[in-house]
Amino acid sequence: MERFLPPAHRHPATLHQAMRHSLLSGGKRLRPILVLAAAEACGTPRRRLLPAAAALEFIHTYSLIHDDLPAMDDDDLRRGRPTCHKVFGEAAAILAGDALLTAAFELLTGQVQRRLLAPLGSRGQLRQLEAAALLAQAAGMAGMVGGQMADIESEGKEVELPALQYIHVHKTGKLLQASLLVGALLSGASPARLKALGTYGESLGLAFQIMDDVLDVSGDREKMGKNTGGDAAKAKATYPAFFGLEDSRRKAEALSRRAVLSLRGFGSAGEPLRALAKFVVEREV
Ligand code: IPE
Ligand code: IPE
Ligand code: MG
Ligand code: MG
Ligand code: MG
Repeated sequence: MERFLPPAHRHPATLHQAMRHSLLSGGKRLRPILVLAAAEACGTPRRRLLPAAAALEFIHTYSLIHDDLPAMDDDDLRRGRPTCHKVFGEAAAILAGDALLTAAFELLTGQVQRRLLAPLGSRGQLRQLEAAALLAQAAGMAGMVGGQMADIESEGKEVELPALQYIHVHKTGKLLQASLLVGALLSGASPARLKALGTYGESLGLAFQIMDDVLDVSGDREKMGKNTGGDAAKAKATYPAFFGLEDSRRKAEALSRRAVLSLRGFGSAGEPLRALAKFVVEREV
């Protein structure tokens, strides 16, 4: 990712420093890892998917910067560091997010990517377009942004289960699922494999956000590098608030098992994805 970013001192330096502050500060890197694991499951060398993998992490990091803004979740700790707006101010944080989002599409459709996908020929270019369109949908109004809007509007209200599911599937699930589909599309995967990875991603995405809610109640601030307890303080719509902690965990575990089942057709090449499904519900960070 460092290679895909301008140097920190390039004008306007505040923008580039703010982007680097949030992007290069750790994090689990789950979305890029999913891109690469999907490629591996489809028998494609991971190197070819590196720009696409970075693109997913750029979009995710933008979503975190904006999620932490005072107008949204108003958080001051992220990935073990003060949040972007705390260090660089709100204007720079908003713009750093905007720049990461747009840079992601540059990466996904740019020169490096085209060169790496050359072995797929003109079909590769078509797949690249499909991947960009899919990612735009997953990140935008019908995906993450829509979910974030519903999340903010749910604060302090009693929400029904379908509304809670909408929030989780959209604010988090869509981008996780897109990571897998982008990896599969750029690997030239068959429709059957795309479908299987889409199903895996759907279950994994929901399990992931349920566990994020669980960890907001029972996790360790130091280990996670972000504050806990914020969901209850803001009366957010969460799984633990709706089902309780233990039931929420059980639901996440069931979704993780369902995710693994959808990988039946992948043999040993699907092993990293199976391990990731376990990680998502066993994680402490
Ligand atoms: C946190 O995502 C925000 C959600 C979408 C739940 P992660 O838990 O993947 O955050 P990082 O990337 O490891 O910091
Ligand atoms: C974030 O959900 C979803 C995003 C799109 C960033 P949360 O607000 O629960 O994420 P954390 O707990 O702040 O990481
Ligand atoms: Mg939020
Ligand atoms: Mg938040
Ligand atoms: Mg959370």
